[in-house]
Amino acid sequence: MVSVAIMGHGVVGSGVAEILLTHKQKLYAGLGEEIYIKKILDLREFPDSPVADRFTKDFEEIVNDLEIRVVVEVMGGIHPAYEFVKRCLKAGKSVVTSNKELVADHGAELLAIAKEENVNFMFEASVGGGIPIIRPMNQCLVANNVNEVAGILNGTTNFILTKMIDDGMQFADALKLAQDLGFAERDPSADIHGHDACRKICILASLAYGRHIYPDSVHTEGITGITLSDVKLAKGFGYVIKLIGRVKKLEGGKIDILTAPMLVPFKSQLSNIDYEFNGIMVRGDCTGDVVFYGKGAGKLPTASAVVADVVDCCKHLKARRFLFWADGDGSNIISYKDSVSAMYLRLSGDDAEAKAQKAFGDITVANGDGEIAVLTGEMAYGEFENKCAALRADGVQVMSTIRIGDI
Ligand code: HSE
Repeated sequence: MVSVAIMGHGVVGSGVAEILLTHKQKLYAGLGEEIYIKKILDLREFPDSPVADRFTKDFEEIVNDLEIRVVVEVMGGIHPAYEFVKRCLKAGKSVVTSNKELVADHGAELLAIAKEENVNFMFEASVGGGIPIIRPMNQCLVANNVNEVAGILNGTTNFILTKMIDDGMQFADALKLAQDLGFAERDPSADIHGHDACRKICILASLAYGRHIYPDSVHTEGITGITLSDVKLAKGFGYVIKLIGRVKKLEGGKIDILTAPMLVPFKSQLSNIDYEFNGIMVRGDCTGDVVFYGKGAGKLPTASAVVADVVDCCKHLKARRFLFWADGDGSNIISYKDSVSAMYLRLSGDDAEAKAQKAFGDITVANGDGEIAVLTGEMAYGEFENKCAALRADGVQVMSTIRIGDI
């Protein structure tokens, strides 16, 4: 029998307890031992829980319990999750977390502590919810140089954009619906401003390229500026608008990473990933494109990934699973101004088309209601910003600008 503790009994935590209880036999068959929930940490009372007698409000009861070998952190947020996880690792316990903020902000440090203490720190559920992505990238694709990772990594924004694209729903109504259905975070600003997706692409980039990428060093745009006009015009050109987290390796070894809405061509596999689903494309030099698809959020999908890590930790109590990246200082990342992309713009004003042509050269144009949409060729983003500034100075209203994804 392996004793485990769960810190947090919210949506994911209660899902972890549920799976450990309802799938006891299945897990026993895979592990050859019982996984016993010894403690659950939460400040609230859960008298109706089948394990009501195991709840505690005192973290010390977990960290000081020598029988507890694996601790699940599903509290979310940085404090006190960071301090608790660190203490558990230093006490010789393996830790499993679904907390993307914690891994994106402190992953390198926590992995180093785990290495030093000869225990495991695992976080499959932190990216893509129930979709296996950390383990496949770390193990199954290990023979590849990863040239690019691009993903729809946030269910809330993908749900909102799908409702705008398919049903012509306004942004605010679609957000309200996402909240009512329980996809959005308590504070949806991390979703809609792109920070949640940014944390996830940082975790995947750190894993792919071996050095920690901190979210602060990644250019991040959300979807609040996307309008129904953009959605409609993009569709006319053969694209859907998706919030994409993307990292690519450039010649010379630096990486180009950003989170931003992008026009995704209909032919891309990512264009068909709709509603709250997530999709992640990994471009390996041996495999070519490998695409992972599934539920990126929700109680049981996320808990499924957490429990898989718990089983892995239980199987490897005396050995480390190799999951590691070193700390990073951002020096391997190019400025977003040097990132090259073709662009979509929505413009209005006298002679907007002729002025856009003068600024960007070869363009493709479509007419909207008293406005035009323009597709440009590829250029560095800094150059694009300068051209937009010149257009504005020339009396053109630049209402939207969106990157075109080559994914
Ligand atoms: N708010 C997140 C999403 C939850 O919408 O994808 C899963 O990380």
